[in-house]
Amino acid sequence: MRAAVVRKIGGPEAVEVVEVPLPEPGPFEVRVKVAAAALNPADAAVWGGFFGPMEGVEYTGLGLDAAGVIDAVGPGVLLKTGTPVIVFDAPVVRPTKAQAEYLVTDLNSLAPAPEGMDLTLAATIPLNAMTASLALDHLPLRPRDTLLVTGAAGAVGGYAVELARTRGVRIVAQGRPEDEEFLRDRGATWFVSRDEELSAAVRRFVPGGVDGVLDAAALGAPALAAVRDGGIFVSVRLDVLPDPERGVVVRHTFAGPEPTRLAYLSALAEVGVLTPRVARTYPLSQATEAHTQLARGGLRGRIVLVP
Ligand SMILES: NC(=O)c1ccc[n+]([C@@H]2O[C@H](COP(=O)([O-])OP(=O)(O)OC[C@H]3O[C@@H](n4cnc5c(N)ncnc54)[C@H](OP(=O)(O)O)[C@@H]3O)[C@@H](O)[C@H]2O)c1
Repeated sequence: MRAAVVRKIGGPEAVEVVEVPLPEPGPFEVRVKVAAAALNPADAAVWGGFFGPMEGVEYTGLGLDAAGVIDAVGPGVLLKTGTPVIVFDAPVVRPTKAQAEYLVTDLNSLAPAPEGMDLTLAATIPLNAMTASLALDHLPLRPRDTLLVTGAAGAVGGYAVELARTRGVRIVAQGRPEDEEFLRDRGATWFVSRDEELSAAVRRFVPGGVDGVLDAAALGAPALAAVRDGGIFVSVRLDVLPDPERGVVVRHTFAGPEPTRLAYLSALAEVGVLTPRVARTYPLSQATEAHTQLARGGLRGRIVLVP
């Protein structure tokens, strides 16, 4: 089968599509015929070397998000071939991953795909909806409490706004001016532009500071400054955690496989609570171009590879 891999640390030009052995499912594993695999900033972290140099390995696969159809099952699996699923392929560094024609994964890493949803859209759900959901669980907010979501028009931020809305939280969403309409439609109560000084802009609407922040833009200290004394700050990046101040609790969240949560998020997407977004699709053969586009940034919605 064909798979997108990297053999050496570099830029997006390090991504190549190569022939690799077709993986076989072991006990409690399934093989998925990938219909679509989304690109994420974590992929850039793999080819950029954030997870370390690739010494002693021939190649490393790419991709944490996929949607497809079960193609083969290992011992102990009751699911049927032909079942559409979404996959959160969480191990970041492995020889072949989601951006390939086939993917072997364990039962903890998949959930039914949202019924009736195009698999290209469905492929954009797992990593980022899981991250948004987990991050919100770190924020013990009650209805009418206030939450700032930075980078709210991004993949994590967008799902966070939609999930926070279901909790009755009042949301300050930060984005570019052209994101305002989208964010208000998704559930933002207030909008602040990323061009403004964040804490001052937030405090125009919530003078004492917000009860919590979900820092999806990984801004760190400037986002922490928008939290009220004794509030809570949740980051999605361990490398940019700000120092606690004024009694604000600082937490970090890291998404891992959780089949029940993934199934719940898939159901939320099926009924329209979550809005998967695709910016552009590329055939798997153009994986290098797709990763080059990822590196440019600025898109709304995910880039998706279609094998
Ligand atoms: N912990 C975990 O398990 C986990 C899982 C998934 C993602 N992450 C991390 O979460 C972060 C968000 O991921 P994502 O997939 O949502 O990325 P994304 O789709 O690129 O969204 C990031 C958003 O932040 C905005 N942004 C970037 N720099 C900014 C700045 N200086 N000021 C204000 N806004 C800014 C971007 O705006 P523009 O596009 O307009 O620049 C974009 O809207 C990444 O750092 C990623 O590595 C962590």
